[in-house]
Amino acid sequence: MRTVLFTKDLESLKTAALVVGVYEGANFEDVEKYEALSSGLVSELVRDKELTGKFGKILMLRLKGDIKKLIFLGLGKKEEFTIHKARELAGKSAVYLRDLGIKEFALELFEDLLPYDVTFAVMEGVRASLYTFNDYKTQKRDEVQTVEQFTLVASAPNFMEIDEAIKESLVVLDTLYYVRDLQNKPSNLVTPTYLATEAKKIAQKYGLTCKILEKKDMEKLGMGGILAVNKGSSHPPKFIVLEYRGGKETICFVGKGITFDSGGISLKSAKNMDEMKFDMSGGAVVLGILQAAARLKLPYKIIGLVPTTENLPGGNAYKPGDIITFSNGKTSEIINTDAEGRLILADALVYSKQFNPIAVLDFATLTGACVVSLGEFFTGVFSNDTLLFDKINLAGEKVDEQVWRLPLSEKYKDYIKSNVADIKNCGPSEGGAITAALFLQEFVDCKKWAHLDIAGTAYTSNNKDVLKPMGGTGVGLRLALQLLKDWKK
Ligand code: BES
Ligand code: ZN
Ligand code: ZN
Repeated sequence: MRTVLFTKDLESLKTAALVVGVYEGANFEDVEKYEALSSGLVSELVRDKELTGKFGKILMLRLKGDIKKLIFLGLGKKEEFTIHKARELAGKSAVYLRDLGIKEFALELFEDLLPYDVTFAVMEGVRASLYTFNDYKTQKRDEVQTVEQFTLVASAPNFMEIDEAIKESLVVLDTLYYVRDLQNKPSNLVTPTYLATEAKKIAQKYGLTCKILEKKDMEKLGMGGILAVNKGSSHPPKFIVLEYRGGKETICFVGKGITFDSGGISLKSAKNMDEMKFDMSGGAVVLGILQAAARLKLPYKIIGLVPTTENLPGGNAYKPGDIITFSNGKTSEIINTDAEGRLILADALVYSKQFNPIAVLDFATLTGACVVSLGEFFTGVFSNDTLLFDKINLAGEKVDEQVWRLPLSEKYKDYIKSNVADIKNCGPSEGGAITAALFLQEFVDCKKWAHLDIAGTAYTSNNKDVLKPMGGTGVGLRLALQLLKDWKK
């Protein structure tokens, strides 16, 4: 989809549809500028109280001139209008027009908010909500509706800020599409080798350094976690190390890259098992963060670590009762082979120490327990540093990828005490998201670490949020980029 910025008079605009916002209780003066365009229909709408401006309400006029349709979009109460509402409404109108079969539309930038912020939000709303994954639809492809051009109509004095916001948002949204595509592609395509090849490709394209640790390298390093999980799979494991050098201070991102989680010998039930192709979502987000960081030229050194393997049962698979040794020498008893994410992350967290990072963040579809506690609208966050949590929380608020802090309390440590090893990989079902985080903490050295359990937010099977169409949501990407942008603030 092309994006065009239009700063001239509405009279010279040619479009299939122009979306304009109207607040609740708007009077004739507020919408007078559309009177001529609509050949006098607007005054009639106001007179007959048809222009309610109620939040999300859409009223469409069919016109005769160069603007074929004029769409009044209800913004709700003026004093309650926010960036979040702007984002959501831009998304709603884009989907509405796409579903009408419109290939090109324009939207007049909402006023009363900072031009940069509102432009960014509108771009996010339009792009994130129009995302679709059609790679495998070979039939009726012509019936797939797509918008080819979006025109943002804005006032000329703010041109610089708006243009800047468009450019930056396009990088973020391009990357969001990249992450969602990776998530949505099936696991017969997206194997660990596929992810490693992707990492090499983005390194080449955006000037990152990429190193792939192969199975033999992992053996040398004693990465018993990822090696154990890999045993049941016929695809070799890969450990992706991406590096972007934009500054001195180092921030490390770790992403869970289980390309399919069957549960292994502790096999999952068949219901919804297909969704376990999304178990590499954390890894996809990290590949996204690294490429966007390079494109946005962020002033930090950023390391991306993605341990990746399948988790499958088989004659050689690791088993409950096994004891494994990680790269830092710690041992774990395996109680449940379905608690595999923490095992591969443990080795990655140990590996992160050598970069001496000022902060480490991991993204992982780690526990069903987190889905039970928070559902699909909040990501669970565990952190050993309140200031870091506060930053994450603020970034999440800004981009509407909200988070909720869960306790990283020593009180739960007994739950994962083992009789035969240093620790066991799973406790009782109570506090399951917490014990998973405590397990990870055993392998963390950094004073500023946060674990984001995205099990409930990484993908969706409904259309409740217009910005998140069915499938991978890419959650974590926009949050991390906002966090990095505001890091020094
Ligand atoms: N990948 C799953 C977690 C998950 C569940 C992600 C639902 C997305 C949706 C993880 O590897 C897992 O299976 N965790 C187990 C841990 C348990 C055995 C301690 C779980 O949460 O049931
Ligand atoms: Zn699992
Ligand atoms: Zn998993």
